[in-house]
Amino acid sequence: IRLFVPRDAVALGLGANRVACALKRGAEARGLDVEIVRTGSRGLFWLEPMVEVETEGHRVAYGPVTPADVEALLDAGLGEGGDHPLRLGDPEEIPYLARQHRLTFHRCGVIDPVSVADYRAHGGYRGLEAALRLGPEAIVAAVRDSGLRGRGGAGFPAGIKWNTVMLAQADRKYVVCNADEGDSGTFADRMMMEGDPFCLIEGMTIAAVATGATRGYIYLRSEYPQAFETLRQAIANGVAAGVLGDDVMGSGKNFHLEVRLGAGAYICGEETSLLESLEGRRGIVRAKPPIPALKGFLGRPTLVNNVMTFTAVPWILENGAEAYAAYGQGRSLGTLPIQLAGNVKHGGLIEYAFGITLREVIEEFGGGTRSGRPVRAVQVGGPLGAYFPDHLLDTPLDYEAMAGAKGLVGHGGIVVFDDTVDMAAQARFAFEFCATESCGKCTPCRIGATRGVETMDKVIAGIRPEANLKLVEDLCEVMTDGSLCAMGGLTPMPVMSAITHFPEDFSPRGQQLP
Ligand code: NAI
Ligand code: SF4
Repeated sequence: IRLFVPRDAVALGLGANRVACALKRGAEARGLDVEIVRTGSRGLFWLEPMVEVETEGHRVAYGPVTPADVEALLDAGLGEGGDHPLRLGDPEEIPYLARQHRLTFHRCGVIDPVSVADYRAHGGYRGLEAALRLGPEAIVAAVRDSGLRGRGGAGFPAGIKWNTVMLAQADRKYVVCNADEGDSGTFADRMMMEGDPFCLIEGMTIAAVATGATRGYIYLRSEYPQAFETLRQAIANGVAAGVLGDDVMGSGKNFHLEVRLGAGAYICGEETSLLESLEGRRGIVRAKPPIPALKGFLGRPTLVNNVMTFTAVPWILENGAEAYAAYGQGRSLGTLPIQLAGNVKHGGLIEYAFGITLREVIEEFGGGTRSGRPVRAVQVGGPLGAYFPDHLLDTPLDYEAMAGAKGLVGHGGIVVFDDTVDMAAQARFAFEFCATESCGKCTPCRIGATRGVETMDKVIAGIRPEANLKLVEDLCEVMTDGSLCAMGGLTPMPVMSAITHFPEDFSPRGQQLP
């Protein structure tokens, strides 16, 4: 019998290792011949640890499993016969999963993440094979025609960036993956690196073939130790299998890949700061231009993309740009890995075509709040994203529609709050976060964020609230217009959306002082 137990960080946090041990002990005691495969997660977090059993070509899932459930599960007989209250049936038919458009995540939670053979058995490396046949210009054309935009948050057209690096003349070029995933409520990069690292490795290798880069770096946040280990094992196995290194798949092309760990600074997710850190210096933002595509790592042309951008590419090369562009709407094409978190019943990863509304995500996938209280605010796009009130929840997740509602898609993180949330405290938090994480290079952000905290404190304490709120609004204008990067430039977004949509939380609550 083959059993699949996730080793994704969320599942581990919920006891997956203890479940795996209990399954091994219980099976041994019964004399069962059991192989336990440690997978990533399918992203249905309320069901983790979700254990799957392979029976005659398909799988049966059970979850959430605790070590205390294991004896009864084994007694019930896992698989076809195994009737048990935790039995979920075929995982692919669980509506949360069945309704999604899993182009990028279709292997995540299914395969052994560090096995090249398992990756290939599930369609892996067909994208790179196609890329090697096509050559650089046609690869870049496919990425351009797919409509893929940078999934890190800015949504810059990937094809234009790849073309810039491809055309740049230099003795060396680099491919760098931004795996710093600092946004609150986001975990798509982590899930992918822990559950299907070869998809990222394949995407980066395709990028190297397209741009002429021979060396790549994955800049990973140190808060992801499981992803670090999985990536290291996967890279070593990839070199041994000949899909990385001196002669990629017998093509004669070199691509050497390394993982580098960050040291816990949010700003190192900003690409120029990331490059500073990668070069061994403190993570401080560089002024652009020059853009990294022309002058990046060690002054050479460097393709910097997020994990989700690279991992979209193998599917595009395998299935064609047109097939990818058939998903989504307007200028937001393909799928978005939505990460649903906060006060929600069914949090997890939802890969879906652009255009789904916030309400559909929260109600139909999320099942409403975990507390059972009404949804009051929804923050989209991380700590620098806007808070949406109920009347804006029909906004589609699409770059233009979100911008039209004065928000952003960002990295696709959605955090739900119920009616107990204090929006003035949330606005203060945005300034506090910026004050803590600012790299300090420019004044509007370095000084502005600290003054923002102080001024919000006065508003909350009821000290000349109207005048101080006006001051907060002025400060936001200066930070938006005068900051060097998105850290200071976008902090006003959560602040102003909170003030605009939830004004009642900013009216005086304390005693008014002169
Ligand atoms: P940006 O708009 O300055 O740049 C986007 C990308 O396009 C960069 O890689 C830039 O080098 C490239 N680019 C611009 N012009 C180009 C050209 N002519 N040719 C080739 N490449 C070109 O945005 P930035 O500062 O990189 O990102 C800001 C976004 O990051 C925010 O909107 C926010 O949503 C997101 N963000 C994401 C976080 C995460 O954890 N994933 C954390 C914080 C912010
Ligand atoms: Fe640094 Fe903030 Fe200026 Fe960005 S906006 S360069 S984080 S000080």
